[in-house]
Amino acid sequence: MRLHRLEVTDFRNLRHALLEPSPELTVICGANGQGKTNLLEGIWLLTGAKSFRGAKDAELIRRDAPFAVLEADFFAAEREQTVRLTVGGVGSQRPGRAARLNGVDRGRAAAIAGSFTAVVFDPNHLSLVKGGPEGRRRFLDAALCQLYPGYLAALRRYTRAVTQKNALLKAYEITPGAATLLETFNEGLAAYGAEVMARRAAYLARLGPLAAHNYRDISRGAELLSIRYLPCCEEGKLGEKLQSMAATEQRAGFCLVGPHREDVEILIDGQPGKIYGSQGQQRSAVLAMKLAEATCVGDILGEHPVMLLDDVLSELDDDRQAYLLTRIEDKQTFVTTCDSAAFARTNGKLIRVRGGRIEPE
Ligand SMILES: Nc1ncnc2c1ncn2[C@@H]1O[C@H](COP(=O)(O)OP(=O)(O)OP(=O)(O)O)[C@@H](O)[C@H]1O
Ligand SMILES: [Mg+2]
Repeated sequence: MRLHRLEVTDFRNLRHALLEPSPELTVICGANGQGKTNLLEGIWLLTGAKSFRGAKDAELIRRDAPFAVLEADFFAAEREQTVRLTVGGVGSQRPGRAARLNGVDRGRAAAIAGSFTAVVFDPNHLSLVKGGPEGRRRFLDAALCQLYPGYLAALRRYTRAVTQKNALLKAYEITPGAATLLETFNEGLAAYGAEVMARRAAYLARLGPLAAHNYRDISRGAELLSIRYLPCCEEGKLGEKLQSMAATEQRAGFCLVGPHREDVEILIDGQPGKIYGSQGQQRSAVLAMKLAEATCVGDILGEHPVMLLDDVLSELDDDRQAYLLTRIEDKQTFVTTCDSAAFARTNGKLIRVRGGRIEPE
């Protein structure tokens, strides 16, 4: 996957900007609030997904402009392709994000998912290490949905069964035939849950060693990262586990066991990263996981996604920064930084953003 050119009009604070990135590393540099993240967000939107900042479509349009346009040329699936994304305001003729791929109108932007792929690191992702298990499950589930279209269906069936079972457990005493109903729900949960668990286990078995390898490179072997799936029970034993927990679940009044309660263990030098990791170590760990995610996507789908690393350098020491500014080869990567001296330390292409403009070299 290679982005050759991106032209944005009336997008965020970028009135008009033309980005011609390096096929490998591009470093986007500028002071706070100038438009660096906006530029990365523009690249991200070419994937067809919604903003990684959780922004509403209307917020993407430059204030006072009627709509925003993003036009890009990229290389994927062994050919040159073009994409044109428009974002219309709430009351406009065509509100929301719409896409045209290779000259063909595809309607909603979500319809072009899979043609241009990217993996993004944004500082909020630090919650992967710092936060609770639901963020780690979301990380897993998002990656698996992208890789295996059937995963989303299995996850939805599972989640629906959990909701139904929770409703039953709350009103267990007053529901006629509750025991039979519970058994039916548990059979469904065991089947869909096993599918979810098998995918998560296989994915983490692949991701873990890749992330550990990346971490070793980033930290120059200073520490070891290990990532392990913490399943809710042994493989193939979810049905049995649900049965053994039935009485406890009835007392609690909700589902206590299953993939919706699982976690991923992230250890730095054998200690939980969340509790003992320093800021830089936690950041390195998330970064190592994100780069591993990109490698997994590349290996499984046959095309390495573009990597968008927002504000990744802060809190990293010189050696770790050097890894990001010089060692990323071959895969197309975008790194943003406020460090005006970055140009002296990178072998990538330097792009300066100021007041919503890309400055001429
Ligand atoms: N819809 C919009 N219309 C006009 N300006 C906008 C819009 N959305 C955001 N902005 C402006 O864009 C600027 C922020 O840009 P961005 O988030 O890209 O900054 P940045 O260069 O990444 O800064 P930092 O280094 O602090 O992360 C802010 O000044 C904000 O007011
Ligand atoms: Mg920013």
